Amino acid sequence: MSNITTLKGVADVRPPDVYVFEKIENAAREIFRRHSFSELRIPIIEHTGLFTRSIGEATDIVEKEMYTFTDKGGRSISLRPEGTASVVRSYVENRMHDLPPPQKFYYMGPMFRYERPQKGRLRQFYQIGAEVFGGASASVDAELLVMIAALLREIRLDDTELFINSIGCKDKQCRPGFRDALVEYFSQRVELLCEDCKKRLERNPLRILDCKMEVCAALRKDSPKISTHLCAGCRTHHGQLKGLLDALGVKYREDPDIVRGLDYYTRTTFEVRTERLGAQNAVVAGGRYDDLVKEFGGPPTPAVGFALGVERVCELIKANFSGIAPDSEFLPEFYVIPLGIAAAGKALALAQGLRAPGRAVATGDALVSLKSQLKRADKAGARYAVIVGDDEVARGVAVWRRLSDGAQGEVKIDDAGALLSLAAPQEQA
Ligand code: HAM
Repeated sequence: MSNITTLKGVADVRPPDVYVFEKIENAAREIFRRHSFSELRIPIIEHTGLFTRSIGEATDIVEKEMYTFTDKGGRSISLRPEGTASVVRSYVENRMHDLPPPQKFYYMGPMFRYERPQKGRLRQFYQIGAEVFGGASASVDAELLVMIAALLREIRLDDTELFINSIGCKDKQCRPGFRDALVEYFSQRVELLCEDCKKRLERNPLRILDCKMEVCAALRKDSPKISTHLCAGCRTHHGQLKGLLDALGVKYREDPDIVRGLDYYTRTTFEVRTERLGAQNAVVAGGRYDDLVKEFGGPPTPAVGFALGVERVCELIKANFSGIAPDSEFLPEFYVIPLGIAAAGKALALAQGLRAPGRAVATGDALVSLKSQLKRADKAGARYAVIVGDDEVARGVAVWRRLSDGAQGEVKIDDAGALLSLAAPQEQA
């Protein structure tokens, strides 16, 4: 029987990457706490209709990329391809609109899209996302973008650029007018479009604007731009956002082609990109979706949010960290070495004593030689080895050795405190 491997486009997150993931998640939690966002743990599976209705039937995600199956009760279920739809569902289902606005939530976890796997594009990938409900003004967008900038600074991702756009509202002048202009422009060039975009022209012309094919990108250079179709309200909103970003010192560039691959957006859309990841250059993306709560049966509630791709960010910031772990907080401070099974009880009790105040402690294997266990302690990145053999137990002591320079000493076997004061907590990087 051949070995079973992971599915294509699906990866284990192993050390050292998993330490970087944890760093990103911890930084995000801290930033969210400072901005008074609460965590929402949304399900991984939902009714398929949640995504078809919010993301849009005629989008790549819904048409081609959803992991959809029928459960034993005959329901169509999908693995979530993103988080916004579920957060909106939860907001409406749990009547969170009855609470005082704004309501602010964040989530983290795996998303699933059946895409063609390549660097930076997986079929199972992790997102950290946040959504704000009940704020219509450009200051809410601005604060979200400031928060994203703070998060990127916190994780030392400093070579990214923020791109913003407005895709208008669904009122007559904005989106329908723009749609008509696009249809007119691309209809005259239909033969030059890729096969997918020929269909998009009929079903969802806006999607031509985020087609990755070169032929379509070339045609797009001279295509109508939404900026000339914005209604007065949307133009004002966009102008206010830019004014606030300027005032806050947040650098940005305008990109009239950011329409995003999901249908729910209105007004502000944005992407944070890097030049270091090739084609998959967006590390953070999001925007406003002022109609979605109402479309899901809630009261009209403006909303805006973003999601960050954890794998992409991990890839970018890995270089900031050296060695096997991104920093010492993930390394054991002590490596307790039991020598022989008779001494193991005392050794393990000492290890527990060291862990109680919160220190990281690894332990060796009682049946392995001292020399090998010392080597393992070194490889694990421990600062101190603590040796407990029959001789030590008989004398009521444990021997410690500082692995960086071989300095050595003894403490009483039940005196974890003496060892703890020896190794003061390390400075956090
Ligand atoms: P999205 O642009 O589809 O937006 O995804 C957000 C981020 O997730 C992307 O910028 C990228 O970093 C990461 N990502 C997306 N697909 C993949 C993939 N196949 N492999 C690896 N990383 C990926 C959303 O999902 C919206 N829900 C964002 C949002 C929240 N808008 C409003 N609120």
